[in-house]
Amino acid sequence: MNDHEEKRDLLAIDDFKKELPDLINWAIKMKNGEGIVDEFKPLEGMSIGSIYEKPSTRTRVSFEVGVSKLGGQPITLLSNDIQLGKSESIADTAAVLSRFLDGITYRCFKHEDALDLAKYSTIPVINALSDLHHPCQAAADLMTITEHKKNVNGHISWVGDGNNVFHDLLLASVSMGHDVSYATPIGYEPNATIIDRANRISEETGAKIISTNDPVEAVTDAGVIYTDIFVSMGEEQMKDKYHAFDGFQINEELVANADPDYLFMHCLPAHRGEEVTNQVIDSKNSVVFDQAENRMWGQMSLLTYMCNENAWHTFNELF
Ligand code: CP
Ligand code: NVA
Repeated sequence: MNDHEEKRDLLAIDDFKKELPDLINWAIKMKNGEGIVDEFKPLEGMSIGSIYEKPSTRTRVSFEVGVSKLGGQPITLLSNDIQLGKSESIADTAAVLSRFLDGITYRCFKHEDALDLAKYSTIPVINALSDLHHPCQAAADLMTITEHKKNVNGHISWVGDGNNVFHDLLLASVSMGHDVSYATPIGYEPNATIIDRANRISEETGAKIISTNDPVEAVTDAGVIYTDIFVSMGEEQMKDKYHAFDGFQINEELVANADPDYLFMHCLPAHRGEEVTNQVIDSKNSVVFDQAENRMWGQMSLLTYMCNENAWHTFNELF
């Protein structure tokens, strides 16, 4: 069961900003430790529910497989099939699920709903993507950067929408002391409150944050270039948004400005030919499928830490 004095929720990645490097190292150890996964079962006897209001490939499969590998039972709850949002409130759903489960992951439209689910649950809640945050993605992304580059030569560069994926990438990057330069079109800047939070973290870690509306400026000498789709889930009616992103495609001409060993990153799914060309996403610099795999290892570390902290520490001592 959960060994924290108070249950911990992961709603945005800065909820775990202090633990993030250790959570990542744990995940890397688990991924590379041959046979460890066969003997280490910290979620034995536990059930982890996952609620989805939006589609998912990576998040759903990585949670289902990851929970199983840790000895737990994953239970996927698609929003069409449950009472939440129809005849039952978030508060009552949270109270009921807390009687059955040991943890809940939640992919939702409105971030306030994730906050409410966490507030009314007595078990740990993990945000599996909301309109504001995607913390599990950021944990996997920083794990991927750590695996490929112990020290990022040059900054982490974001080109595209100032969206949920960027918010947590920024918070995670500055928490780990990496400089970030981001280019968004005018009107598609990140959420101002999140930028304030990132600035406060960077005062502690010494990371620099640079914002621009010029993709070339953001990627010049970058060690990492990251982008995401221009129109996120839930924004499908904002078709006009596409026009704002002219000049924001990651293509060979743009990446020529980066460090030659830069990493290309994308949370996926990618709209090839829109925000990134095939030449870039299929190039030797691209680590997008490592990012996808690392979703599972990162979440295994998070789930163990949040649901069975003693086992998380024991693993660190043993392996
Ligand atoms: N990156 C990500 O969250 O992918 P899914 O939408 O497939 O879960
Ligand atoms: N920004 C995208 C990420 C998908 C994984 C969205 O929210 O749709």
